[in-house]
Amino acid sequence: MNLLYVSSSLFGDQGKSSQLADHFIAQWQQQNPGSRVTRRDLAANPIPHLDGAILQANMTPADKRTPEQQALAAVADEAIAELQNHDVLVLGVPMYNFGISSTLKAWIDAVARAGTTFRYTANGPEGLLKGKKAYVLAARGGAYQGTPNDTQTPYLKTFLGFIGITDVTFVYAEKLNMSADQQPQILAAAKAEIDKLISA
Ligand SMILES: Cc1cc2nc3c(=O)[nH]c(=O)nc-3n(C[C@H](O)[C@H](O)[C@H](O)COP(=O)(O)O)c2cc1C
Repeated sequence: MNLLYVSSSLFGDQGKSSQLADHFIAQWQQQNPGSRVTRRDLAANPIPHLDGAILQANMTPADKRTPEQQALAAVADEAIAELQNHDVLVLGVPMYNFGISSTLKAWIDAVARAGTTFRYTANGPEGLLKGKKAYVLAARGGAYQGTPNDTQTPYLKTFLGFIGITDVTFVYAEKLNMSADQQPQILAAAKAEIDKLISA
């Protein structure tokens, strides 16, 4: 069981989503000794936003790419191979301006590739990344869970399902910026939920 942790907090390891992910990984490693954990830090090493040249390079078969296209496509190729090679995906997901971070969106744009992570069939789209489990650790200043303003939950469920990852569990730490006094309790409650998930 290998775990890929994709982080995107602007606050690095101090980010609340990062703190939840660190806790998750520490507990998970105890339960899965000897497993490999890979971290992709999108805030420290952002993936370039998708543009026309990158899209063209990504869509060109590897043996037909020009040297320039090979360099452009290498970023997404690597992100896809990394995702394919891990069993468990942990996304640290801050809420910024009512959505996911732009760096996480850039990662999603990189790993969504027709014929590789999904394909279209006569019966509709089919996700090609089967048998994986994902955990989304969401940190938010306000409270959105279960309301129409929670854009992150349906979006991430839809996207992950589209590429074949249908087993997705969300853990939320909300109201983090509503009262500084409450922060430790909110984080402790989310960590306790993580402990339950991992020991289940
Ligand atoms: C640029 C920016 C935008 C934010 N926008 C929102 C928002 O739209 N809704 C919200 O509830 N919190 C918002 N927040 C608060 C964050 O969700 C909160 O700080 C959370 O802890 C971020 O996760 P992180 O600590 O892992 O980075 C914002 C914070 C920043 C820095």
